[in-house]
This record gives sequence, structure tokens and C-alpha cells, in this order.
Amino acid sequence: MAKSMKLLVTLGELNGAEKLVPIKRSQVAGVSYKTVGEPTLNLVESMAAEKLSVKTNATLNPAGMDLGRWRSMGIPEAFAEKQLRLCKAYESLGVKPLCTCTPYLAGNRPRRGEIVGFAESSAIAFVNSVIGARTNRHGGLDALSAALVGRVPLMGYLMNENRRGNVHVKVDIKPRDEADYAAIGYFVGKKIRADEIPVYDGLCAPSFKDMKLLSAASAASGSVAMFHIPSITPEAKNLESAFGGDKPASKLEITGRDVWSVYEELSSSREPDLVAIGCPHCSLQEVREVSKLLSGKKVKDGIKFWVFTSPSVFEAAEKRGYVRNIVSAGGDVFVNTCMVVMPIEDMGFRSVYSNSAKAAFYIPRMTNGRCESRLLSLAECVRLCAKA
Ligand code: F3S
Repeated sequence: MAKSMKLLVTLGELNGAEKLVPIKRSQVAGVSYKTVGEPTLNLVESMAAEKLSVKTNATLNPAGMDLGRWRSMGIPEAFAEKQLRLCKAYESLGVKPLCTCTPYLAGNRPRRGEIVGFAESSAIAFVNSVIGARTNRHGGLDALSAALVGRVPLMGYLMNENRRGNVHVKVDIKPRDEADYAAIGYFVGKKIRADEIPVYDGLCAPSFKDMKLLSAASAASGSVAMFHIPSITPEAKNLESAFGGDKPASKLEITGRDVWSVYEELSSSREPDLVAIGCPHCSLQEVREVSKLLSGKKVKDGIKFWVFTSPSVFEAAEKRGYVRNIVSAGGDVFVNTCMVVMPIEDMGFRSVYSNSAKAAFYIPRMTNGRCESRLLSLAECVRLCAKA
């Protein structure tokens, strides 16, 4: 506990915080054994042995496998044993074993204006921008420390003055689908600095899914923790208020050519052996959309068509028959994990199609180049990988 407090105080001092403020909600990252390995397993087990306990409603980021159905995913036994130990250790600390990057769809949704300590980059951008809650971009250790102490330093995106937009992003194309939104977010993330907040001008009616994919992409290709879309996101009634009445510090224009350059960058030439939907984890509406698109079709031989979501969305999708439809088309729906944090390279996958620019960006990096990726819309993934 002393180390956790020291970490938070040091973080605050480095960033000019005057005090720590209480939080009631956390999202803890550093859960997949693939990404954190032995050091984190040892650390969390030693914390559990000291009988530490979190003081917030804390949930976990995705683990390296479906915690119940890992055998049917083809997860190596040795990996599963470590992963289960790590999740058990987190659970001993009082963190709910709900492994999802969309906790706001699974019972851990902050209110507008609420200060929280979230560690998953896509969720951070989403709750700051779309929900209007407040969190900094916490790393795994400081989010866990904040959950144990029940406080975060008052700094950064928690302060009104740091939440105003400062980059005017003029979007000169009409996105066709969710993959275009992801490509726009990806392009912006690469172009702007970590402390800048883009204001998208020209995105008329993005859906919940579009904003989820855009958040994830700009937080992956860059470090975007917050964005505004005038008249859509809660802190941007219009273009002027998004900039807090100030003039934007800079301007960025996005054309069809820029979006196309993202597709060119994220484009494996190999035939896919996995279609992976759900980065960030699917909402119920997205699972329904997959089920509808696959209805009456069969996934082609040699390809897995996997959907990733949270346990609570899975339950709702199962009740409504969406999971059954996906399975009867030859696909599957998994919980607690995703295509990026699973050991897909050891499971034999070499090329993944996804409608997520974040997934397409990370897959080659997280597999040391053993697996390629391609960004495509869900409809395109179904068109190319399933037959009537
Ligand atoms: Fe979530 Fe995994 Fe993507 S944690 S945002 S599905 S990389």
C-alpha cells in the first residue's frame, strides 16, 4: 500500500497536482499473460499474499484467453495455467473478474463528470469524449495503485482547462462505414501530439460503434485521450464551445486520400485464417449485426470467424439467439479476451482481417511480425470470408 501511495504521489508531483482526489471506479490493465508475463504475475500474487484489497468498483482489461472456453480456442495449456493464476490473483485483490475493454457496456460505466482511474487506452478516450467522465491515461501499475488507494492525482484531463479542443480536424470525406471511422481516428492519432485534443469538424452522425472504433484507433496510432465532435460529444455543444472559446492552435485536413493511405498501410496481402471482430469489445448491437450479416451464410473453410465481447453482452446476445446464429454459420463468440492480447501466433494464425484499425495496427507488432493484418469493414469481412 505504501508503494502504491508513493507511486500516485510521485506521479502527481511530476505533473503539478496539488492533491489526490477520491475515485469509486477503476479499470485495471496488465491482465493478459502474453503482454505482462512473469513479473506482473509475481507482483499481483505477492499483493494478494499481503491481503491487499481494492477500494473501488474495479474491473479488468481483457485477458489472454476466454477464461472458460480456452481449450476450444486452442490456447496452449502452459499459457492457460499462468493466465488463470494471474486472474485469480487480481480477484483476490477484489478486482471483478470481468475482463473487458468496454467496461462502460458491462456494469462499470462512469457518469458524466465522474473522475475515474481507467487504464485501457480505447476506454479512456471513449469515456472522456463520449460519456464525458474524466480520466487520465493511466498505465497498468498506476491504475492498480489508484484502485488500491481509492484516489488519483488531480491533474491532466481531470481539469477543465485541459479538456478543451486545440486541433481543428476538418474531415473532407463522408465515411462509408465503421472502418472509415477507424481509419480517420488512426490517421489523426499519427498526426497529432500526445497532449493535443482533436475537434472533428464534418463528422455528422457517427454511431456508438463508429466512435468506439475511432477512439481505439487514435489512442493506438497515437496517444489521443480525448476528442470532441460538435453537437455529438457532451462537452462540445458546437464548434466554438469545443475549443472553449479560444482559437484552435492548429488545423488538420483529412481527405479521401489520407483515409486510403491508412487502408494501404494496414493491408496484409495474405489470405486470412482469422476474421476478428470486437476491438474494442462488441456491444450487443454489434453482435446482432454480425449475426444478421452471417445469417444464411457459412464461413469459408480454413477461416475462423471470431467475435469478442464482454461476459455481460455475451449473456444478452445468447438470450436473443445472436450467438447461436453466429455459431451455426461457422463462427464463434468469445469473452474476456481479444485478438491482440491472445497468443494468436502460437495458435497458428498468420493473417487476420478486422474492422478495427487498432487491431490491425497491433497484431503484427504483438506477434513479432509472425501474423499480418488487414483493415476491412465488417460487411467486407463477411463478403470475403463467408459464402451463401
Ligand atoms: Fe480491447 Fe483488445 Fe482492442 S483490449 S481495444 S479488443 S486490443
